[in-house]
Amino acid sequence: MVGALSPVWVRVEDMQPLVLTRDPSLLDDLARLAAGAGVRLDVRGDPVAALASWSVAPLVVVGDDLVGEVAAVAPPQRAGVVIVSTAPATEVFRLALELGAACVVELPAAEAHLGALFADVEEVPGRGLVLGVVGGSGGAGASTLACALGQVGGRDGPSLVIDTDPVGPGLDRLLGLDETAGVRWHDLATSAGRLGSRSLREAVPRRDGVGVLTWAAGAATPAPLARVRDVLAAGQRGHALVVLDLARQAGALSAELMARCDLVLAVTPATVSGVASTMRLIEPMADTSRWRLAARRGPVPVRDLAAATGVPLAFEVPEQRGLAEAVDLGLGPVRHRRAPLGRAVARFLAEVA
Ligand SMILES: Nc1ncnc2c1ncn2[C@@H]1O[C@H](COP(=O)(O)OP(=O)(O)O)[C@@H](O)[C@H]1O
Ligand SMILES: [Mg+2]
Repeated sequence: MVGALSPVWVRVEDMQPLVLTRDPSLLDDLARLAAGAGVRLDVRGDPVAALASWSVAPLVVVGDDLVGEVAAVAPPQRAGVVIVSTAPATEVFRLALELGAACVVELPAAEAHLGALFADVEEVPGRGLVLGVVGGSGGAGASTLACALGQVGGRDGPSLVIDTDPVGPGLDRLLGLDETAGVRWHDLATSAGRLGSRSLREAVPRRDGVGVLTWAAGAATPAPLARVRDVLAAGQRGHALVVLDLARQAGALSAELMARCDLVLAVTPATVSGVASTMRLIEPMADTSRWRLAARRGPVPVRDLAAATGVPLAFEVPEQRGLAEAVDLGLGPVRHRRAPLGRAVARFLAEVA
């Protein structure tokens, strides 16, 4: 048994910036900037009616026509409040201070700045479930399981499979996304600055809810650790499920990634050598409380694996016929919903969610 991990990811696809104004020409300008950034606005002319959205909106934009009325209802302090004005007067700055606004922007001079703020709105707040998958032994089926989890999870909310194993086959290939345009690790390693969750979700190769971040062939240089952290944080904010395909080689990167997982699944072949190498992998780990086994059937009874390794069994990964063919066709390991692998993974995900 795994037990529910109750991730706090909330699907609010229409989380919109809150705009408070009754000035039609200002509203025209804001609507145009929002359309350019691909976001919809929640427009309110009544500050009291807007209080319900005040604290939860990803961004609050207050027109200078209403800033006095808004300050008068004393909404709770929050980050991300912007005052817009076409001719800011001293009074506007005083009220901005009172509201704890981040800035007063002047239109049209600050159009680009405001457009960027709209574009950066994180429409999916919260935090997705992070599952790590590591092979207990080489060729155990870890990458396959990671992709299967992403495919099945992607039916219920956006999922992201992150390849962190530089010597793996390239997970985009496993998922049939190798010819799909989108960013790879090397694009992110060289770009600086804060990574938006929505931009990451939209930038990676994606199909049917599952996205993949992987290495381009021949460019297998791990991104700097700090960048990997940013990517994982942005991935978690913008996806219901993040699956990490973890390298078996011990190192700072895999240790850090494992520590950030809600659960680490060690794919363990139920063979004498499979169990022996899984034990070697687990043995140096300081904390295995969040580790679970995903067993591949073999001559050793699956029920004996937990006792041998000291790690509880999460589920048995069934043998999937036609796997290589499905992957060759670009369909990923879960070709049919009702196939054994898809069903086992769906049952497991339902249990942890
Ligand atoms: N559930 C499964 N059923 C049948 N074959 C599988 C299964 N999982 C993996 N394989 C096969 O085993 C081989 C190794 O899988 P892979 O996922 O690359 O392992 P790892 O990432 O642990 O090295 C591949 O040829 C793959 O098709
Ligand atoms: Mg692999």
